[in-house]
Amino acid sequence: MTSMIEWKNDAGVVTLTLNDPDASANTMNGAYVEAMGRTVERLVAEKALLKGVIVTSAKSTFFAGGNLQQLSQIRPSDAAQVFETVEEVKRQLRAVETLGVPVVAAINGSALGGGLEIALACHHRIVADDNRIELGVPEVTLGLLPGGGGVTRTVRMLGLQDALMKVLLQGQRMKPAHALSVGIVDEVVPAEDLLDAARRWITSYSRELQGDPKQPWDRDGYKIPGGTPASPKLAAFLPAFPANLRKQLKGAPYPAPRAIMSAAVEGSQVDFETASRIESRYFVSLATGQIAKNMIQAFFFDMQSINAGGSRPAGVPAYRARRVGVLGAGMMGAGIAYVCAKAGIEVVLKDVSLEAAARGKEYSAKLLAKQVGKGRMTASDVEAFLRRITPTGDPNDLAGCDLVIEAVFEDGGLKQKVFAEIAGVVEPDALLCSNTSTLPITALADGIDRPDDFIGMHFFSPVDRMPLVELIVGAKTSDRAIAQAYDVVRQIRKTPIVVNDSRGFFTSRVFGTLVMEGAAMVAEGVDPVMIERAATQAGFPAPPLAMLDEVTLTLPQKIRDAARAAGDSAGAFDDHPGMAVTDRLVNEFGRRGKAAGAGFYDYPADGPKRLWPGLWEHFPVKAEIPLIDLQERMLFAMALEAVKCLDEGVLRSVPDANIGSIFGIGFPPLHGGALQYVNAYGPSAFAERSRELATTYGERFRPPALLVRKAAAGEIFG
Ligand code: NAI
Repeated sequence: MTSMIEWKNDAGVVTLTLNDPDASANTMNGAYVEAMGRTVERLVAEKALLKGVIVTSAKSTFFAGGNLQQLSQIRPSDAAQVFETVEEVKRQLRAVETLGVPVVAAINGSALGGGLEIALACHHRIVADDNRIELGVPEVTLGLLPGGGGVTRTVRMLGLQDALMKVLLQGQRMKPAHALSVGIVDEVVPAEDLLDAARRWITSYSRELQGDPKQPWDRDGYKIPGGTPASPKLAAFLPAFPANLRKQLKGAPYPAPRAIMSAAVEGSQVDFETASRIESRYFVSLATGQIAKNMIQAFFFDMQSINAGGSRPAGVPAYRARRVGVLGAGMMGAGIAYVCAKAGIEVVLKDVSLEAAARGKEYSAKLLAKQVGKGRMTASDVEAFLRRITPTGDPNDLAGCDLVIEAVFEDGGLKQKVFAEIAGVVEPDALLCSNTSTLPITALADGIDRPDDFIGMHFFSPVDRMPLVELIVGAKTSDRAIAQAYDVVRQIRKTPIVVNDSRGFFTSRVFGTLVMEGAAMVAEGVDPVMIERAATQAGFPAPPLAMLDEVTLTLPQKIRDAARAAGDSAGAFDDHPGMAVTDRLVNEFGRRGKAAGAGFYDYPADGPKRLWPGLWEHFPVKAEIPLIDLQERMLFAMALEAVKCLDEGVLRSVPDANIGSIFGIGFPPLHGGALQYVNAYGPSAFAERSRELATTYGERFRPPALLVRKAAAGEIFG
């Protein structure tokens, strides 16, 4: 049987090469535990004859970490067994670190999570100087903690404060130079010199000068850098820590950061073995819980599916844009020009005049100046970047463009006009995209030459920071256009989801149900402070009334009025109880939202926004609704709309729903996205609870047909 760990003894120096024969990456699966068990036995048996041990990998990543497939299937009843497996992995690593022979990690590729934990158990860590390599323990981003010794060792290596802030709590992924400056690796060397450098370290290891090879924490008189919670400096810092963490999480129930902090602080006050066991216990409590499963589903499996092509039609050759014409250099156009130029694409940025276009280019200059300020770019990088953006007022300057992204005012006639202006100018098969946020793509395409090459490419604001792009397929959009648009989004390093045309597409439709639910609660007489607090404590990055102010209170009116004019107002908030509130705020009090300086909130020039006191006067508090009902109404409204989108064929896949709802509209990441929320609840229990909400709060919660079918069949969305 081929082992996952290859053993090669070269004159007393053993090289252990991690190389899972059955997978493209090494993970901490059963084969690893078994191979490591045998390797440790052999190391112990032969240690008198060994000069040193090198741990390296034959894969492009050093080691990919925990096996997420296995982790996501853990049930609460597996707790004892999971604890035992984790402890076994740690006993093995502990045996390596206390072998009495110098052990060095030669890190040839990314070492994340369990990969870094293996390296941390070595006495010395050398990493290849390659910017594709990432090091860190990102477990927290999957609702977990590094349970293979990651908490215990980083605390002992760096001290509590640095371990928590620089490594553990945000799960930073570090390039080699960054990892060196933080102190989790000891050397960065040219890739071709990696194994020689490891051998040199072993040869130069001197027992006379350095004593027996041991970790710092196994030496006599060792003290954790920066002290323990009992020392004065930390005693001043630690009490503020839980409060800061609470503030950062805004009361949302993320268990991983809290568990990491507890494991680190408790572990720093006891010996290594006890600390390690404490860490295992916290790991098991997270791994057996639902939140880790939700986060693994969304941030690992769903992202993997999208990165692997997701809803991209197969069979269309890969596409790379060379020269993009961006029509409209306002807020969105300027941001789109920036992200395209950043990806190396030549940009022609067109507005009504050269001056207006130049203002759009200025936006990039401002963002780049910040990068220079942070030392991330040089003046010559900036110059080269800006040279890629050509501002213009003349449509003829779009000659040679193989891609057009339109972002002029939200006016269908104007959009069709600007496409007509460039029709004979750009490449004859150029891909044509519109960043419209509300206009149906099929209707817009009717006035456009080559409707089969036309697609919605919906960016989110601010474009440089928001990772999602929603592609909207019109009735005539070809598979070629979908695939090319998908490739463009990947080219500019964003995440694409693909949806079929519908009013509000997918993201705005689902977003609308959340903010209007907030408005409906105001109508019922729920205290607005409670509405906002319920949302942030449920994990929404921003609460509904504040968000409604951002998008303006006239938006729901516009959507309803346009739908009425088109003779199809079902689902366009026409009968939504929240409309009474937004209508009154706009029509009676002239409060149109944040841009107008007044909405649900006041926006004083000299301080932070605060809820408008008039709300309590005009919408007196009279409803005492349990917090859980407020929270579930928001979550259910969104999830039910996502189910409807799937049922109507607006959504093409479940990963698109989960990722789109988290990255586009702030569905709480701890639930793993709108449809994962239903799956985790259990479709049958979810349908039952929807019926209850419908009876108490309104028919909009009545379970749609697809949910009823799934519940009856005992199936999840997958
Ligand atoms: P904006 O008002 O900041 O910019 C629009 C720009 O288009 C202005 O600079 C205007 O001078 C220019 N323009 C008008 N006529 C033109 C013409 N004939 N040729 C070239 N340029 C012309 O608007 P914003 O916010 O950038 O929105 C643009 C589009 O993006 C709209 O369709 C909007 O619905 C959509 N959108 C907006 C989002 C947002 O958060 N603001 C989010 C997603 C999409």
